[in-house]
Amino acid sequence: MLTWNDAYATGITDIDEQHKRLFGVINEFGAAVDRGEGEMKIGKTMKFLAHYAKVHFNFEEICMAKYRCPVALQNKKAHSSFLESYKKYTDRLAVEGCTEKLLREVQRMCEDWLADHICKIDTHLKGCVSKAGADGKRE
Ligand SMILES: [Fe+2]
Repeated sequence: MLTWNDAYATGITDIDEQHKRLFGVINEFGAAVDRGEGEMKIGKTMKFLAHYAKVHFNFEEICMAKYRCPVALQNKKAHSSFLESYKKYTDRLAVEGCTEKLLREVQRMCEDWLADHICKIDTHLKGCVSKAGADGKRE
């Protein structure tokens, strides 16, 4: 289970809110697996996660470019590689079926990747935003 705290703060309110939402969706996915939900519900949550992740990544990449964040390119590459891994899992789920073992792998991959990615890459934004003298909320 992912719990947001200040260690994940990026200095940009909108991005922090999106990260909290992503945590919520991944937690909901985990809870659906706990409850033994069927493929329909799991599939819906997974589709939404992919959609929301793409929207968020796009927004964040624009922010990093705007603030000339030195890790902007690294961030973009990390986002693509996450989406690739995620796609591989959705393909495997379609072939192998929604087994609990595989769903737990997806859950763990999402939790580990997101927590690590925010701390190691996204939080670089903080320094860039403060250098720009903005509070990160206004355009
Ligand atoms: Fe990112």
